[in-house]
Amino acid sequence: MRDSEIFVHYFLAGEIMHNKDEYILVLDSGLGGLSVLRELSEILPEEQFLYYGDSKNAPYGTRSTEEVRLLTQNCVAQHRPMGIKTVVIACNTATAAAIEDLRATYPDTIIIGMEPALKLAVDRHPGKKILVMATNVTLREHKFTALMDRFSDTATILPLPCPGLVEFVESGQLHTPELSAYLSSLLTPVLKEDISAIVLGCTHFPFLKPVIQELAGPDVEILDGSHGTAMQTRRRLEEANLLRTGKGSITLTNSLGTPEILNRSAKLLEVPL
Ligand code: DGL
Repeated sequence: MRDSEIFVHYFLAGEIMHNKDEYILVLDSGLGGLSVLRELSEILPEEQFLYYGDSKNAPYGTRSTEEVRLLTQNCVAQHRPMGIKTVVIACNTATAAAIEDLRATYPDTIIIGMEPALKLAVDRHPGKKILVMATNVTLREHKFTALMDRFSDTATILPLPCPGLVEFVESGQLHTPELSAYLSSLLTPVLKEDISAIVLGCTHFPFLKPVIQELAGPDVEILDGSHGTAMQTRRRLEEANLLRTGKGSITLTNSLGTPEILNRSAKLLEVPL
């Protein structure tokens, strides 16, 4: 190297090369993430949201971890050309299986995930019994077992895998006798345990809250992580100076692409589009 040579280095690594008007992509295996989008749109009303439900491949929660990782990676890759400043993985299952991979693939993009709201439940019910309803994938992945270990001294945590429950929401069955019978078979044995709180560790389950509350009784508090996730999204956008101002919008899409699934999505969202 000659002394006279001047080397100019541009340190772009870590810099977020996005603009405020890009979309916030909200992903789920299907319709569950709409419970998170509802909260996001309330807390960030000036943002442009692009929702993608992968109902064609739902449920994710009974698949292998590798399959869920691939499906989630595909969802993000498919939407990236549209201009995405932030990804919210509005799915506990996809977060557990894929968030580390996604962050490594897209280091310049804010990627927010979900986890069962165990900290909130333990803070509110220390020393008590807390039931966590979630998918098989969420409960078996390291992310959840580490979370459970963290709080096992402060409360008794009872994980309850709920295979089959997501399908009720996907098919629009939120109040049917079949749903009540299924939930009752799942919950009645464990509710004998004097449960203080139920954590809904799957974003589909808040849509079933009235039926779950009816079975659990009025003294059991039912919690989910959507408010915390929306607040974290706002915090991260603010830190990166990526908060948008102006009229917000919500675009709903789904891998099934049928009018039925889009109507069902709009109905579940319950906000004017
Ligand atoms: N909504 C997803 C979650 O939060 C799971 C749904 C599924 O099994 O596809 O875990």
